[in-house]
Amino acid sequence: MNGIASATGVARVTARGAERWTRGHPWIYRSDVAAAPDAAGLISVFDPRDKFLGQALFSPRSEIRLRLLERTHRPVDAAWWRGRLAACLERRAAIDASAYRVVHAEGDGLPSLIIDRYDRWVVAQLLSAGLETMRGDILAAIADVLQPEGILLRHDNSARQREGLPADVELAMGTVPESIDVREGTVRYLAAPWTGQKTGAFLDQRSSRMLLAAEARPGGRGLDCFAYHGSFALHLAARCSAVVALDASAEALERGRENATLNGFSNISWVEADAFDLLRDYDRGRERFDAIALDPPAFAKSRSSVPQALKGYAEVNRRAMRILAPGGVLLTASCSHHVRRADFLEMLASAAADAGRPLILEQVLGQGVDHPELLAVPETGYLKGALIRAMS
Ligand SMILES: C[S@@+](CC[C@H](N)C(=O)[O-])C[C@H]1O[C@@H](n2cnc3c(N)ncnc32)[C@H](O)[C@@H]1O
Repeated sequence: MNGIASATGVARVTARGAERWTRGHPWIYRSDVAAAPDAAGLISVFDPRDKFLGQALFSPRSEIRLRLLERTHRPVDAAWWRGRLAACLERRAAIDASAYRVVHAEGDGLPSLIIDRYDRWVVAQLLSAGLETMRGDILAAIADVLQPEGILLRHDNSARQREGLPADVELAMGTVPESIDVREGTVRYLAAPWTGQKTGAFLDQRSSRMLLAAEARPGGRGLDCFAYHGSFALHLAARCSAVVALDASAEALERGRENATLNGFSNISWVEADAFDLLRDYDRGRERFDAIALDPPAFAKSRSSVPQALKGYAEVNRRAMRILAPGGVLLTASCSHHVRRADFLEMLASAAADAGRPLILEQVLGQGVDHPELLAVPETGYLKGALIRAMS
């Protein structure tokens, strides 16, 4: 094998494995790795004819054995990480918020790395064994480029377990508060980096929250279903005269109330309920709303559960469509990885037919710009959405 690389070992892959990289997908699976070292790390990868293909993160225990990081021999050191992080930050320069995703793993060409900024603090996830070996350089680059007051590693997730890594929450630098006051457009909310869902908030819906508020009828009535700490409700409250925020979690709603106080909003009612029940009751009671957010948790946890999940999505969407006021807007979403965009749109068409009223598909939505979805890497996209308007 030829070529000088900064990597510490070498691997040889099959022609099929090499083709995946040619076609723009950074993963090579176990079955396409012909030879590799024993230990995790950054390694140089060669095709069956000894041609150098690039440097990759190697995970000895994962089905995804190799994740392409760098196509050249350039050393992957602290300076390399600084350059990549600076480029990611530059791509987000236009975001009007103090909390957003700075690195979306494969979507930003940095496989298995998540970096979220919450104002002056950073929450990161190193989600592969190969990446974990580069922890020192990555943390140094975060400190240099983002200059946070603290870095928290939210490693309490199943991806780390699959890689054979400890799954815990660890303070890696400085201090990080329990609660961080962040701004999103004109609205403020409290993120919970240590204990909140994901890395502390659902950053991926930021642009949809702003879109729904912009489309809501001023002075109208808003509904935030599956509200969590009320992120959609807060944006709606700035526009509508009254908003209902419903969630099954009393704890999430309590944080929602704090967020309303933070913004000086007194026009949000917080309702602890099962969304399936409450939407059915609203439908039967002929309630009407001018703007509705429907942002449920992932109903499909696996491929086999997709048909059942689609039934659930269809039911809540049909109900929401029925209680839209004439001219009202519904922002609906699915964050299930396993539900493809085509499945989601087909489900919406069927729900609209069952709702029995003319509904306009105004926009098909995806993740915010800080969560780039690569067309050739479907795993980078999980959030699907639509803006639907009831004909007036
Ligand atoms: C994807 S999160 C919502 C995120 C939120 N819209 C945001 O932008 O921050 C889903 C929420 O649904 C809630 N939930 C799950 N099942 C529910 C149900 N059957 N009825 C009401 N809420 C539910 C969870 O407690 C969670 O807060």
